[in-house]
Amino acid sequence: MRAEIVILPGDGIGPEVTAAAVAVLRAVARRFGHALNFAEHDIGGIAIDRHGDPLPPATLDACNRADAVLLGAVGGPKWSDPNARVRPEQGLLALRRALGLYANLRPVQPHPATLGAAPIKPHLLSGVDLLVVRELTGGIYFGDKTRTADSASDLCSYSVAEIERVVRRACRLAQGRRCHVTSVDKANVLETSRLWRDVATRIARDEFPDILLEHQLVDSMAMHLLSRPRAYDVVVTENMFGDILTDEASMLAGSMGLLPSASLGDGKAGLYEPIHGSAPDIAGRGIANPYGAILSAALLLRHSLGLVDEAACVEQAVDSALEAGVLSADLAAGGDAVGTHGVAAAVVERIETPSHVAE
Ligand code: NAD
Ligand code: IPM
Ligand code: MN
Repeated sequence: MRAEIVILPGDGIGPEVTAAAVAVLRAVARRFGHALNFAEHDIGGIAIDRHGDPLPPATLDACNRADAVLLGAVGGPKWSDPNARVRPEQGLLALRRALGLYANLRPVQPHPATLGAAPIKPHLLSGVDLLVVRELTGGIYFGDKTRTADSASDLCSYSVAEIERVVRRACRLAQGRRCHVTSVDKANVLETSRLWRDVATRIARDEFPDILLEHQLVDSMAMHLLSRPRAYDVVVTENMFGDILTDEASMLAGSMGLLPSASLGDGKAGLYEPIHGSAPDIAGRGIANPYGAILSAALLLRHSLGLVDEAACVEQAVDSALEAGVLSADLAAGGDAVGTHGVAAAVVERIETPSHVAE
């Protein structure tokens, strides 16, 4: 097949991890005979520096025309002045909104080889396989903001339609898994959460009789996620709760650098990015963990290009590399660590030599 993929490396470790993911996609294209075309564009801090705009029109146009978009990360200390006129993160938020990407899928499946890196007891982690579906284009991120000399406010609002579509998406995904959805809210305090709970209950009851829907308050969810992570299948929640819970969930896998994500709407192009940020503390040193970006490329192959065998091939190559002890510094616990390029090369080698990959 032919496909146009826009690459948005962004800031900090973004360019390092996207280069690794592109190397993997090129290897997939060679092995399976696809013509994948890559076009790089600016977003975030680098786009502010070069164009005065964190989402320049040329970047948005390219994303609108692409089959899929792969992003590294945006942001960093250079652009973090609280009084700055414009911020890198605004570019990412505007892109998600412009592409209508309301459902952010963040799978968490700890790998046996990285259990040692996780701060959680290993016996709690075996068999953990959860998928967080984070609402991505509503809530407090996108409500009106005000700031005066002595006060500030961020409005959190959700419409019924916004809740319906993401809950439906979560229920459909659960049908392909263990048919269990946990909806996370703060319905004991927030009006938006009470609406969320009503809508989720109705959608599950009327449209998904095969799905077991449970509700959980976000504060106790933050605790249960660590004490009984095996209890969850699909977790659906609003924008900010999903942001926070998935950084927490990355500790089940062992590192922020491991978790991928897919942001999907009802249109054509999806956006794929690791859940971590620009990691300014390690940027430019060639030590960033690229597995999350590489696994995001696998999600791109599956969800935007419909290339399921190719996606599975990348995921198996990652499993095989982890099993062989190809661990970046964040996973190696002081032992022998492999750099960003080395991890990419190990995954590429396994894609090129299919016998390395367990079928
Ligand atoms: P961060 O995710 O960048 O880093 C948190 C910690 O995790 C750091 O110690 C970092 O070194 C480590 N880490 C993250 N990714 C790693 C990887 N691939 N390999 C090894 N270690 C990794 O979060 P932060 O420090 O709170 O934020 C830094 C900047 O990133 C901020 O400007 C923030 O807005 C931005 N950010 C961007 C995105 C995105 O572009 N999607 C996501 C989160 C944060
Ligand atoms: C993420 C990030 C972003 C978010 C920021 C950079 C806007 O933390 O993708 O998880 O909060 O959505
Ligand atoms: Mn985040």
